[in-house]
Amino acid sequence: MEATSASKGIFDGASGERREYVIEMLTKAYWMEIETVMSYLSASVNLDGVRAQEIKESLTEDIEEELGHARQFADRIKELYGVVPGSQEFEAEQGFLQPPEHQTDTVHVIRGVIKAETGAIEHYTRIVEETEGIDPVTQDMVIAILRDEQGHRRLFEGFLREYEFEGKA
Ligand SMILES: [Fe+2]
Ligand SMILES: [Fe+2]
Repeated sequence: MEATSASKGIFDGASGERREYVIEMLTKAYWMEIETVMSYLSASVNLDGVRAQEIKESLTEDIEEELGHARQFADRIKELYGVVPGSQEFEAEQGFLQPPEHQTDTVHVIRGVIKAETGAIEHYTRIVEETEGIDPVTQDMVIAILRDEQGHRRLFEGFLREYEFEGKA
């Protein structure tokens, strides 16, 4: 006899639609990470100025972490029998993280990073909610990634606070 539904969770035949939906959310998360890698890479190179060095170093570290997140999302898509999309399906959304007019405009980058991290936090929080009780493995993975994004945002909020305190933001 076939094992009964609930025991197979997200892999159950009856959960097919749910699984498609989770794959869709994971795919969006994957693209968010890829775009973040692109944006942080350009910002980490473009910025000029003595005080920008700290921001550049921080972004350089984050690039590795975000790439690691993209890899985790890709792996999970595969495990759920999805297909990781190719580059032609990519659609850019981070208009706010394009290079500033002046490459010494560190505040523009800091605000852009906070916005990107906030977007990730919102989307990942939704994945955590939507996988509750149906896909604990995806949920667990996304909770860990969510914590990283909260850490990134907190760090850049601290940078922004410093500029605000000096009246430069
Ligand atoms: Fe990330
Ligand atoms: Fe992040």
